[in-house]
Amino acid sequence: MKLLALAGLLTAVSGLASHVIPGAQIIAANDKSELRNVGAFHQKYPDRRTVTIRSSKSENDDVSSDFLWGIKQANHGGRLLLEKGKTYVIGKKLDLSFLNNIEVQLEGEIKFTDNITYWQANNFYYSFQKSITFWVWGGQDIKIFGQGTLNGNGQKWYDEFSGSQILDPDNTFYRPILFLTDNATRVSVEGITQLNSPCWTNFFVRTNDISFDNVYIHAYSTNASVDAANTDGFDSYVVDGLSVTNTRIDVGDDCFSPKPNTSNIFVQNMWCNNTHGVSMGSIGQYSGEMDFIENAYLENITLLNGQNGARLKAWAGPDVGYGRISNITYRNVQIQNTDKPVVLDQCYFDVNATECAAYPSAVNITDILFDNIWGTSSGAEGKVVVDLTCSPNAVCSNIHLSRINLTSPAGSPPEIVCDGIEGDIGVNCTSSS
Ligand SMILES: *[C@@H]1O[C@H](CO)[C@@H](O)[C@H](O)[C@H]1NC(C)=O
Ligand SMILES: *[C@@H]1O[C@H](CO)[C@@H](O)[C@H](O)[C@H]1NC(C)=O
Ligand SMILES: *[C@@H]1O[C@H](CO)[C@@H](O)[C@H](O)[C@H]1NC(C)=O
Ligand SMILES: *[C@@H]1O[C@H](CO)[C@@H](O)[C@H](O)[C@H]1NC(C)=O
Ligand SMILES: *[C@@H]1O[C@H](CO)[C@@H](O)[C@H](O)[C@H]1NC(C)=O
Ligand SMILES: *[C@@H]1O[C@H](CO)[C@@H](O)[C@H](O)[C@H]1NC(C)=O
Ligand SMILES: *[C@@H]1O[C@H](CO)[C@@H](O)[C@H](O)[C@H]1NC(C)=O
Ligand SMILES: *[C@@H]1O[C@H](CO)[C@@H](O)[C@H](O)[C@H]1NC(C)=O
Ligand SMILES: *[C@@H]1O[C@H](CO)[C@@H](O)[C@H](O)[C@H]1NC(C)=O
Ligand SMILES: *[C@@H]1O[C@H](CO)[C@@H](O)[C@H](O)[C@H]1NC(C)=O
Ligand SMILES: *[C@@H]1O[C@H](CO)[C@@H](O)[C@H](O)[C@H]1NC(C)=O
Repeated sequence: MKLLALAGLLTAVSGLASHVIPGAQIIAANDKSELRNVGAFHQKYPDRRTVTIRSSKSENDDVSSDFLWGIKQANHGGRLLLEKGKTYVIGKKLDLSFLNNIEVQLEGEIKFTDNITYWQANNFYYSFQKSITFWVWGGQDIKIFGQGTLNGNGQKWYDEFSGSQILDPDNTFYRPILFLTDNATRVSVEGITQLNSPCWTNFFVRTNDISFDNVYIHAYSTNASVDAANTDGFDSYVVDGLSVTNTRIDVGDDCFSPKPNTSNIFVQNMWCNNTHGVSMGSIGQYSGEMDFIENAYLENITLLNGQNGARLKAWAGPDVGYGRISNITYRNVQIQNTDKPVVLDQCYFDVNATECAAYPSAVNITDILFDNIWGTSSGAEGKVVVDLTCSPNAVCSNIHLSRINLTSPAGSPPEIVCDGIEGDIGVNCTSSS
């Protein structure tokens, strides 16, 4: 036992080079010229021991075991470099839950295979909204940066999912999430592009202090008859400390939608096209469960061509949960050509008026500020540009609108609807009934 451990230690210290797998390389942190040769450089971060692995020769050349090897070699103070101009195909699920002080410099492309049979049988499953993922990132001090691309290769998934509804209780066609952290602390992602996720683009679970900066998220379908459905930019579950800055998002669902038990949220300079909204929620979905979202500050947001702009959403129905959304500020938000520019929806998901009245949401909405919100609706809701309808079974208080300049192409004056909100909301509004 002891001897084996000693031998292992010796190999780890002295014999790394002899265990390098074919096509891989480990470059010492002080080998500046070789680091420069491979493009291992970032002005913000000092040089580190840097690992490279072989890239894929074709769309089917799965390098997932090389990738896992590279991650293990780079863990504890090193860096894995995925080189510019190269593609790394991942065709097997990966457990990356053991990370501690690692950098991944992504200059090339990581591309997942679209073998639906394989991924639907091999994935990591989360019961929350029946989410699955290709891989799980967990641990602490994880930095991912570079100009490269994380490519979910989603088209085949969009085609085969077509016509289904992710929140339909009978749906069994699960699609992988492109990037997922679980049980992670201090994660930062900078500069990369996230392309065509089969489902949500990012999902953070039991994660603290995670930040995204200067990331571009795009999901689109080349098949005119199907959408890149449910490709949300950001979702979260039990997260404290979530920062998203300088981000452009063009996807087929919410740009940003923290979910149960997310707190201390900061969003700045976000541009969103074709979206279902920059939302708080949905929460209150699961029977008997208490959810919250609190302390969010969002500023300088541009929302174009969407179904919703700034949205708060909570579930209603016979078998749902309860909770609260509190202390949320939306400031300096431009909204154009959007069906519901500002909306509080407490009849989520697709619950009709009769059902919603019979089983109203029990999610309280308190201390909300919408400040300096301007632009135009699409006219889909007539002259209504703001719709804040509180559930009769919840408390909606201290909700304030200031500097609202939203118009509707359907005519003027634009209407602000408010129902069941306690106290003055700062602007004249009418009841929907
Ligand atoms: C897809 O995955 C299945 C199950 O792992 C496997 O049997 C099949 O050969 C794979 N198909 C392709 C095209 O790689
Ligand atoms: C979370 O990660 C820590 C180490 O970072 C580990 O000790 C703990 O067991 C993990 N918890 C779960 C539930 O996986
Ligand atoms: C587009 O998607 C539909 C629905 O899945 C499918 O029937 C059709 O073959 C797809 N078209 C192309 C060009 O792949
Ligand atoms: C607001 O965000 C946009 C990107 O959506 C950015 O171009 C612009 O510089 C930001 N404005 C300020 C004042 O930071
Ligand atoms: C925004 O989306 C629309 C489609 O709704 C597209 O025509 C337009 O090019 C997109 N804008 C930008 C700047 O990408
Ligand atoms: C969310 O927080 C509430 C209140 O603290 C707690 O009862 C609930 O179990 C939490 N949910 C999760 C999924 O951790
Ligand atoms: C409200 O949230 C902000 C962050 O957006 C935070 O700074 C402030 O302390 C919170 N207020 C309360 C009363 O918790
Ligand atoms: C919602 O507000 C009511 C009335 O103040 C309160 O009794 C209830 O506990 C609140 N619910 C939550 C989840 O905070
Ligand atoms: C509303 O939804 C309930 C539950 O799905 C359904 O039974 C009812 O027929 C619906 N009512 C209307 C008016 O559509
Ligand atoms: C409201 O917005 C329109 C353009 O959408 C602009 O022309 C007008 O000056 C704005 N009004 C105020 C009071 O800011
Ligand atoms: C609300 O409407 C009344 C009557 O038209 C008007 O006197 C008042 O100034 C309006 N208040 C606000 C905040 O616009």
